[in-house]
Amino acid sequence: MNRAKHIAIVMDGNGRWAELQGKKRVKGHEAGAKVVKKITTYCVNHEDIERLTLYAFSTENWKRPRLEVEFLMKLLEKYLKNELPSYLEHNIRFEPIGDIRAFSKSLQKTIKDVKEKTAHCDGLVQSLALNYGAHDEILRAINKIKTSSDNITEAMLSNALDCKHNVDLLIRTGGDHRLSNFLLWQSAYAELFFCDTLWPDFDTKDLEQIIKKFTKIERRFGGLK
Ligand code: FPP
Repeated sequence: MNRAKHIAIVMDGNGRWAELQGKKRVKGHEAGAKVVKKITTYCVNHEDIERLTLYAFSTENWKRPRLEVEFLMKLLEKYLKNELPSYLEHNIRFEPIGDIRAFSKSLQKTIKDVKEKTAHCDGLVQSLALNYGAHDEILRAINKIKTSSDNITEAMLSNALDCKHNVDLLIRTGGDHRLSNFLLWQSAYAELFFCDTLWPDFDTKDLEQIIKKFTKIERRFGGLK
């Protein structure tokens, strides 16, 4: 049976969830943050899962209205500050991916602080993709290694990426069937699951069901059985 060692999630549908209830879009992000915590706790307690990577803010999300972007920044900072004791209590290592240099000094400091303070934790690795885009990640990696006169190998590029781990199971909530520039290199052989549930309604039971289906898939990685 397959083990879902690395799960990656595109947490889509916050805005629609809020609008359906006559609320402002940002209320959906607030509700979405609670689900981040719930799903992370579920993964902590699942023996197969080693790594959970969540798409929290993409390189394209800057195109959103300024107030929504500002709200997301504040929410992230509040979340990380509040959750630090819980990361430590549950032995969660926080490993952000993405180019955080575009964020405010204060948010950058909070991100680095939580990363450093949880660096010794050896339980679940929770990665938040922050100002992340796979194209940007790949370009930054190539620029890091291009000074070498040797040809670039797969291992060299993989090691230079923010996320060096192949994805086993990639989930997108919210009904759309696309990857939106998320972990394109690492998902080469990921199993893809798309569900209609909007992220704030996504529950541990939904994840449990997806993992159950995933464990039964025959993964051949381009070979034969
Ligand atoms: C997509 O929903 C979601 C985002 C762009 C941001 C994800 C943020 C969260 C889940 C909450 C904050 C996270 C943390 C870690 C505190 P959308 O706004 O695109 O929804 P829509 O497709 O319905 O418009």
